[in-house]
Amino acid sequence: MERTLVLLKPDCVQRRLVGRIIARFEDKSLNIVAMKLMNITPELSKQHYAEHVEKPFYPGLEKFITGAPVVAMIVEGLEAIRVIRDMLGATSGLKAAAGTIRGDYSGSRQMNLVHASDGPDAAAREIALYFTDSEICAYEPVATPWLRADDE
Ligand code: CMP
Repeated sequence: MERTLVLLKPDCVQRRLVGRIIARFEDKSLNIVAMKLMNITPELSKQHYAEHVEKPFYPGLEKFITGAPVVAMIVEGLEAIRVIRDMLGATSGLKAAAGTIRGDYSGSRQMNLVHASDGPDAAAREIALYFTDSEICAYEPVATPWLRADDE
């Protein structure tokens, strides 16, 4: 079982797409174990996007990500990090394949609706940036026996 950090970005909240995007994760039988609506401060943005802070697009990215609330979630599932990155599609909504979340809803490189951690190290780091242990509500979905075999 893996956990990953997912952010429904300000464009997702402002465009009233939150429910539809969460439904895609639920439909895929992924498990939301933490979730909150919050504002990202410039300080948190710089921590989250540390690898991009020196890039030319960072000032615009910070303005965007701090410009309206986000929905932060921890999502759990088998191979959840890769599965969710596949569901999002390519970074740019202009390049993302049809059928992916960005491919279906985004026409922008910056305003690409959803962030998800790109590997196990990033997931651990990003989860700790957004959530305390006491905010995580692990539970066993009652449908588990009908979602995957015992040995998966
Ligand atoms: P995300 O997956 O959150 O990771 C970094 C974010 O920076 C990315 O999604 C986009 O929102 C944004 N981004 C990446 N590349 C560019 C770019 N070339 N110009 C503007 N924004 C970008």
